[in-house]
Amino acid sequence: MLDGQVHVVTGAGRGIGLAMARALVEAGASVVVNDVDAQVAEEAVAAIRASGGQAVAAVAAIGEAEAADLCIATALESFGRMDGFIANAGVLRDAILWKATDEDFDLVLRTHLRGAFTCGRACARHFRETGEGGVLTLVSSVAGQRGNVGQTAYSAAKAGVAALARTWSMELARAGVSVNAIVPTALTRMVATIPGLGEAVEAAERGEPIPHRLRNELGIGTPDDVAPLAVFLASEEGRRITGQCIGIGGDRLSLWSHPQEVALARKDGGWTPQEIARAWTDDLSLHLQTVGIDQKT
Ligand SMILES: NC(=O)c1ccc[n+]([C@@H]2O[C@H](COP(=O)([O-])OP(=O)(O)OC[C@H]3O[C@@H](n4cnc5c(N)ncnc54)[C@H](O)[C@@H]3O)[C@@H](O)[C@H]2O)c1
Repeated sequence: MLDGQVHVVTGAGRGIGLAMARALVEAGASVVVNDVDAQVAEEAVAAIRASGGQAVAAVAAIGEAEAADLCIATALESFGRMDGFIANAGVLRDAILWKATDEDFDLVLRTHLRGAFTCGRACARHFRETGEGGVLTLVSSVAGQRGNVGQTAYSAAKAGVAALARTWSMELARAGVSVNAIVPTALTRMVATIPGLGEAVEAAERGEPIPHRLRNELGIGTPDDVAPLAVFLASEEGRRITGQCIGIGGDRLSLWSHPQEVALARKDGGWTPQEIARAWTDDLSLHLQTVGIDQKT
């Protein structure tokens, strides 16, 4: 499906990134495995090569422009081209707002949002220069779409990532670059600290089957359940899709809506506070929106 293609996956030493890198290789691509952790990056490369695939490591902390440049330079030097880039690298530093620290906020924003920005900008320059188009895949999250208690920095960063996908799909359309955001859920080291999920992560790591309720109702499976979406988006058919936030996890696959006005009133000359109060009661308040992650779906 992807024979001859070359893809970069950031944060691919473990978790969802590793699963996506492996799946891209299985589909015929060569991959650059980026991770800030040199050991897991080298282990991932060794495992892919041992299975007959082509992979090379690019060890760097995503967030700075140099790290994005290194990933692309590694693809070009090792394989002579780059067809796709998945900006997946991420960290969690959860804390309720009043306990959140500046340092943790900066780390999360730097890794997810600045990381997506620096990688996306480097890709835009590369793809515009080659004129061959390409695939840029970002990784958002349900917390970014809906908000989540204890995830100030993370939900802000991931909402920003979804916004980047929307903006870049417009800016890069003429260059033939598709830009989408995956909204994944999977039992990985990252979610092991979330109350109720630690035991499920340990069980999944032992190879035990994931309960049906988790997979089917909550959409939480393994990283391998997420990976096929990365392959599909890199395929000929997938490359026609752009500007979308696509959810995948366990047995679930979904398309997210983008924010839009759900109620609208107009008044010539603008509004007084009293008129707003009346419009609020009579109209807008009938369309109040819910927030937070729906645990029942
Ligand atoms: N697991 C989920 O349910 C879930 C849900 C929503 C979004 N996501 C997103 O999916 C992506 C992958 O998460 P995961 O669950 O596989 O986590 P993970 O912790 O298993 O893997 C993340 C990898 O990124 C690497 N990394 C961290 N900071 C980095 C940096 N600055 N530069 C390069 N590599 C870095 C880590 O070393 C690690 O190998 C993240 O962007 C995460 O926010 C995951």
